[in-house]
Amino acid sequence: MLVASVLSLKGGVGKTTVTLGLASAAIHAGLNTLLVDLDPQMNATTTVEIDDGGTNIADVLANPRRAIVNETVRVSPWSPHLRVLAGSEDTEAHNNPDPTAKQLARLTTALSKVDPVPDLILIDCPPSLGQLTRSALVASDRAVLVTEPSLYAVTGVQRALEAVQKERLTHRHLQPLGVVVNRVRPRMTEHDYRLAELKDLFGPLVLNPQLPDRAAIQQAQGAAVPIHQWPTAGAREMAVMFDALLDRLMRSAKHKSRA
Ligand SMILES: Nc1ncnc2c1ncn2[C@@H]1O[C@H](COP(=O)(O)OP(=O)(O)O)[C@@H](O)[C@H]1O
Ligand SMILES: [Mg+2]
Repeated sequence: MLVASVLSLKGGVGKTTVTLGLASAAIHAGLNTLLVDLDPQMNATTTVEIDDGGTNIADVLANPRRAIVNETVRVSPWSPHLRVLAGSEDTEAHNNPDPTAKQLARLTTALSKVDPVPDLILIDCPPSLGQLTRSALVASDRAVLVTEPSLYAVTGVQRALEAVQKERLTHRHLQPLGVVVNRVRPRMTEHDYRLAELKDLFGPLVLNPQLPDRAAIQQAQGAAVPIHQWPTAGAREMAVMFDALLDRLMRSAKHKSRA
């Protein structure tokens, strides 16, 4: 089992898009995948077509018992290989800005009880560094940072990396996979400049490929369809890129420090 969190300090940069793209690549590759939606806005949950009846991740965080966890896990219409811990506005109540170690451990406890054990767990985080994102980091082997090639990208990535390094002091299994640069428009001077700046500062942590801006992303999300099943050239191009990112993520697991 590999657990990966997708995070950034800002909203609207593509966390949910990257989480869903990786989930689409994972089910396409036949991996038994669990998507965990920690964002109170719950966009990922809506896109994988889980309705908001029944228990959700807020109930799990309140009481991470085996019965509650497994009653909450649901299969997405996307694929029998995709299970989901649905998001909820109520998770906001679990976003304490100064959480205790016990609070931070709840998600880890919950994920250890998912039956059967998934090959891959993808956690979509909210755009803040409170209890929710930190508990995702505590539960994770890998952190995938997302940014756009914009003015504040460098400081945003720096702060997110610092947060990962800080959590790593007590949770040694956590490693940054790297930074996904999203919505790049090549030949746009500002983007070329920001991308060069990111590569200069973060070197090999800037993941390949960088993701272009493609209408197919919004079309597929609007239709609640995995990008691998959206029938346009732009979608195929994105699908290949998410395959490459997934491949990088899964290969990094071979060096995983935790068995
Ligand atoms: N590469 C892309 N090309 C086109 N639209 C994108 C791309 N990445 C994200 N978007 C769109 O931008 C918006 C914000 O992305 P989202 O993944 O929801 O960000 P976050 O989860 O970080 O808030 C969404 O409407 C999404 O469809
Ligand atoms: Mg989101």
